[in-house]
Amino acid sequence: EKEILILAIESSCDETAAAVVKDGRDVLSNVISSQIDLHTLYGGVVPEIASRKHIEKINQVIQAALDEAGVTLAGIDAIGVTYGPGLVGALLVGVAEAKAIAYAAKKPLVGVHHIEGHIAANFIEHKELEPPFFSLVVSGGHTHLVRVNDYGRFDIIGRTRDDAAGEAFDKVARAIGLGYPGGPKIDRVSKEGNPDAIAFPRAHMEDAPFDFSFSGLKSAVLNYINGCRMKGEAYSQADVAASFQKAVTDVLVDAAMRAVEEYHMDKFAIAGGVASNSALREAMAKACEERNIELYYPSPVYCTDNAAMIGVAAYYEYRNGTRHGWDLNAVPNLKL
Ligand code: KG4
Ligand code: ZN
Repeated sequence: EKEILILAIESSCDETAAAVVKDGRDVLSNVISSQIDLHTLYGGVVPEIASRKHIEKINQVIQAALDEAGVTLAGIDAIGVTYGPGLVGALLVGVAEAKAIAYAAKKPLVGVHHIEGHIAANFIEHKELEPPFFSLVVSGGHTHLVRVNDYGRFDIIGRTRDDAAGEAFDKVARAIGLGYPGGPKIDRVSKEGNPDAIAFPRAHMEDAPFDFSFSGLKSAVLNYINGCRMKGEAYSQADVAASFQKAVTDVLVDAAMRAVEEYHMDKFAIAGGVASNSALREAMAKACEERNIELYYPSPVYCTDNAAMIGVAAYYEYRNGTRHGWDLNAVPNLKL
């Protein structure tokens, strides 16, 4: 059978990325131009700046992805692109670029849901992983508990009511003076702290047992550090970070394990930027081992935003017959 090569483009937030993926599992190239340094100056992603930087970088990132893979556009079978959810201006750059290339090179266009991409990142390094399985997608914008029924077929069984897990990491990091992006910094600092030092709340939704809420936890952290300041007491940055991280991890792992038990699943894949968190990985590994559940997670480079994961998802969409027209648009709140 002829091999299928996908050129994938991702620009939904602050990474300009392009990749070439073979047969949905082999990454021939994965080029990422990060804007993190630029946004760090402002303590978070500035949408206007993100869009402008995407425009400046996207052509060279795509050319680098093709060059590294050793292919030309003529050898590509389809163009995959993230069209939502994300920042509308940022998404538009990738979508416009993908449409232009697909039109000029006469290639099919396949729009991809960003979350589907995060889940698909697990297929890159785990060739044996196939649906059905359960997934927890934890990123800066999303916290979803998903039943993956088949390639491109999902049931969302739980989601956050307010802040995403990564968003909570970023906000707490800023509050305790760690800066942006907060997740990796809290992860690092927590190794020096005591996770049981401060009893932060674990929110449980009575009416929706698989939903999450992180805004109460974030407020509890803010109250704690403000309380210390008012009393003129110093607080331990490492203890706050470790105790906060433990609270997030406990809630995520608890819901994940209740879900696999209720739905009788023996495979679990974590995905998204927060899936590279060391405490979450350890806690998930322990919980899964106790229940005889196979745990999967991508390498850190495939956890945070990248185009290889979009190429994998686009391949399965392409195989399922998904084709988009020249009217494909950016959809900032796209549903899975
Ligand atoms: O998937 P991603 O790159 O972007 C979105 O689609 O949102 O995720 C970025 C998020 C940020 O909130 C970042 O702080 C978080 O993932 N993150 C982490 C870690 N590495 C990245 N959170 C906790 N621990 C980490 N090691
Ligand atoms: Zn993402």
